[in-house]
Amino acid sequence: MKRRALIAGNWKMHTSVIDGCDLATKVAKSAVGADDRDVLLAPPFTIISEVGHVLRGSSVLLAGQNVCWEAQGAFTGEISPVMLTDIGAIGAIIGHSERRQIFGESDEMINKRVVGALDHDLMVILCIGETLEEREQERTFAVIKQQLSAGLSGVTREQTSRLVIAYEPVWAIGTGKTASKEQAQEAHAYIRSLVSELFEKEVAEQMRILYGGSVKPANVDELMAQPDIDGALVGGAALDAESFGRIINFK
Ligand code: 13P
Repeated sequence: MKRRALIAGNWKMHTSVIDGCDLATKVAKSAVGADDRDVLLAPPFTIISEVGHVLRGSSVLLAGQNVCWEAQGAFTGEISPVMLTDIGAIGAIIGHSERRQIFGESDEMINKRVVGALDHDLMVILCIGETLEEREQERTFAVIKQQLSAGLSGVTREQTSRLVIAYEPVWAIGTGKTASKEQAQEAHAYIRSLVSELFEKEVAEQMRILYGGSVKPANVDELMAQPDIDGALVGGAALDAESFGRIINFK
């Protein structure tokens, strides 16, 4: 089954208002004509509204880099699903390894975010992936299984149509070390089999699974040629308009 590809740019903690708007303008141009795939940007919260204005009228989708589970209230430092919808964002990245590792977000908290976002009709990109140590200890599959099943606890079958999984091996993020296409395909096929177990086969066949970790113009084509890789979650290369334009237009 052919799933619609999704190329997402995670700008992390980068870009000023001016630089971000300039980059978004260029990304919108690169996405013109790429009608058989979705393109999405996740800018930092300080400029998400401005970037939303720039993207209006284009096909490029807007998402947050995280989201709280509550609609409003005393949650200093957090952004709610309602606030994201209010400024035109359609989804959020949740459970990025930087949130897990640097800011101590647990599977339990990530699950609350996933359920809260889906309950508010957002699209969710749930990130999972093993560290180098875990891979060397041959615990890759165990870690993937734990993060996926805990992250998706309580998610209904109906909500899975708005769910995307991103496999991001931590050792490949920002290191220039991409998982080989075989390593990535193996992990993606495993994730799809788990989705089938957690929900059902039809859900697994429709689920988009993105690869993230040093995706560049030089490796995007071979990654996207793998049967279970349905898109990319791009960090560093998403900050360069030319590189990201090439990634969007993968062959
Ligand atoms: P890099 O593309 O810089 O390795 O980052 C990947 C990532 O973490 C995207 O969320």
